[in-house]
Amino acid sequence: MKYGKMSAFLTAAGAISAIAIAQDSNVVWTAVQTELTKLVGATPLPAHPLERLEANETADFWGVAQAMFKINMGFYEKDKTARPHTAIAVRDAHAKGHGCVVANLEINEDIPDWARSGIFAKPGQVFPAIARFSNGTQETGHPDNEKDARGMSIKLIDSENLQTNLIGTGKTQDFLMINSPRFFIRNLHDYLLFQLTMIKTGSGKAFIVSRAIHEALGEDLDEKTVLSLIPPIAALVGGSVDALKEIVAIIGPDRTNLLAAHLAKVKVGKAPLEAVIVNEIQREVNSSLEETYFSMSSYRLKSGTSDKLADDTAVKYIVKPVACAGGEIESTPSQKGADSLRDDLIARVGKGENCFSLSIQPLPNEDIEKKRTLVEDSRLTFGTQPIQVGTLRIAKQDISSIVKARYCENLSFNPWQSQAEHQPLGSMNRVRRFAVTASSIRRHFINNVKRLEPQSTEEYSSIK
Ligand code: HEM
Repeated sequence: MKYGKMSAFLTAAGAISAIAIAQDSNVVWTAVQTELTKLVGATPLPAHPLERLEANETADFWGVAQAMFKINMGFYEKDKTARPHTAIAVRDAHAKGHGCVVANLEINEDIPDWARSGIFAKPGQVFPAIARFSNGTQETGHPDNEKDARGMSIKLIDSENLQTNLIGTGKTQDFLMINSPRFFIRNLHDYLLFQLTMIKTGSGKAFIVSRAIHEALGEDLDEKTVLSLIPPIAALVGGSVDALKEIVAIIGPDRTNLLAAHLAKVKVGKAPLEAVIVNEIQREVNSSLEETYFSMSSYRLKSGTSDKLADDTAVKYIVKPVACAGGEIESTPSQKGADSLRDDLIARVGKGENCFSLSIQPLPNEDIEKKRTLVEDSRLTFGTQPIQVGTLRIAKQDISSIVKARYCENLSFNPWQSQAEHQPLGSMNRVRRFAVTASSIRRHFINNVKRLEPQSTEEYSSIK
């Protein structure tokens, strides 16, 4: 991945806080480490009955946070060299926001009894919210009209009706979603490998190669061997004969043939599963308001009728565009250019009301081990019928202001800013407790901006 130029609106918005305070990477890491330990690092979470913990989780959480930090600081330093007066630290992922909107989440009247907990406890309740739309990449200069994943994050803000979230930053409930149903990485172990290959090779593609190596040669192959195979494989693609000799020396001639056959499939996107999912996720889109978004990972739904943990289920969330007054949603002509999704968002919310349905998709009725596998492996989908539980209404509004864009970029969405009844589950969520929090601490620290959860949506809607 490359770090591109900031889009025009972000550059202007960031300039004030970014007057690059000379910062040594170690100083920033110490600040991140201290704050992260305070918020999440001190006590490991007990496993929920629907979870299955991996070995060495806490060490791997820190490993991911630190590897991610290294990658982010590399991008930031490069940007600072290119633009010493305007560079700002940005999100590790979904770095380019198209804009934020205020909205209301209306909970349905007909919530089934078993689902009446947390924000679904009182049918008919309305929660004020802010939603942010984004591109998926770390690269803020990635043009909107090119292939990418797209994100939609929703933050419910209600100090009267919500409890303090699980990280303790405020009375908020966040949902983070992408416009595709499954995540391309299975679990914590693979996520760490993804980061390590990024550091070693400078590209996320090497992770796909590492998965192909595992699929060809076995899951129990040690990561040191996998990592040592990646550079010669890359050199081999460039036509180096010495690279082939190196591969043979590492794994032997028999397994070299097996590996070659498997790697050939990666080229056409057939193997491994991770490559197939990446191809599904990377798409061109017309409008952020015409996409369906998925939580991909699993969340606890505390039983509405029992306080026993064993009676909880897990759900995935789906947020889908719907016509506000029923009927068909109106499709608008696509905008052109590098900021087409921001231009489209401003135009559409400036013209009238837009709506999305919120649905939950419960775990299928399987035995407990199968349920745990579905919760732990983010590449798998539940396949059950979604149940609509709410409607998100985005009233007509003007979001074109650059000051609004700056407020939006300084927000922190985090799946662990959650009510206990909706606790994130599975290793991809457990690692986000460290990774997402660390990214937010890092960028706020570098940009010299306070990390604050909003107290009300008026904070945003009153900005001119
Ligand atoms: C499993 C499904 C996932 C989904 C649906 C998802 C979705 C998103 C979305 C929508 C955002 C943008 C948030 C915003 O608008 O501010 C985001 C940001 C981020 N995500 Fe993910 N993500 C997933 C997994 C992961 C994983 C596994 C990691 C790392 C281990 C990760 C790390 C991050 C980080 C560091 C940020 C930036 C946080 C910040 O600086 O505020 N995500 N994600």
